[in-house]
Amino acid sequence: MRMVADPAALRAALAKGAGRLAFVPTMGNLHEGHLALVRRARELAPRVVVSIFVNPLQFDRAEDLEAYPRTLERDARLLEAEGVDLLFAPGVEHIYPRGMEVHTRVEVPVVSEGLCGAARPGHFTGVATIVCKLFNLVQPDVALFGKKDYQQLLVIRKMVEDLALPVEILGVETVREADGLAMSSRNGYLTEEERGRAPALHAVLRQVASRLARGERDLQKLEAEGMGLLEASGFRPDYFAIRRAADLGVPGPRDEELVVLAAAFLGKARLIDNVEVRRPSAASP
Ligand code: PAF
Repeated sequence: MRMVADPAALRAALAKGAGRLAFVPTMGNLHEGHLALVRRARELAPRVVVSIFVNPLQFDRAEDLEAYPRTLERDARLLEAEGVDLLFAPGVEHIYPRGMEVHTRVEVPVVSEGLCGAARPGHFTGVATIVCKLFNLVQPDVALFGKKDYQQLLVIRKMVEDLALPVEILGVETVREADGLAMSSRNGYLTEEERGRAPALHAVLRQVASRLARGERDLQKLEAEGMGLLEASGFRPDYFAIRRAADLGVPGPRDEELVVLAAAFLGKARLIDNVEVRRPSAASP
């Protein structure tokens, strides 16, 4: 596996290869969730490129950015073992050479605005900007993203559609620990005691999703109960929401494909997760 930091070196390395290219953008500190993306990428294309860049533009709090784990050597070993061809690991100076503040930004309205977008102002502009730039640098045929970051996946899909970027976006199922906790770099912030309580996030989401699947229709009541259950398990929820799966809009009576999403702090870790669900169609009047 080759590893490059400089965009010019990336272009030169890419120019030497040919054939379909699959791309997995990451911020490093890799876990089984990332490796599942890489394995799927390898099934899809003969050439696989992974990027590792802790993007300061998408962090809304300076402490979070400084504390974010950076484990490049270990990550590179894992990617090499997975048969990745090229690792692009630029520094901030390569991505924002004239400074982050004056860099062009990509904004994706509406889908970026609620949920995590409301709790973390500017976050999705940071995500869309870096992903757009990485797509232009790597020029992949297909790019893979985990469904744990459901809103992020929809923001990227919308950006690609609106800007007619020539890349296919593939959402990959969330990889979970045996007790249901979604794999995340942020799980590392949990104390042992918090780690014991963390699976409640997924359990509550599933509980609400199965009530929807059984035909319960009072969404506000279900959301309020979800918030209450998380609080009772020691979380400080940012939101607990039932939305339309296609665009995260508030569901109308006829919408059947839904997603239940939550973001909640447990100690200093902000955990997010979601469960997609199809509810029975509304009875005709
Ligand atoms: O999901 C992530 O790890 C990041 O948001 C991404 C997509 C790599 C952009 O920095």
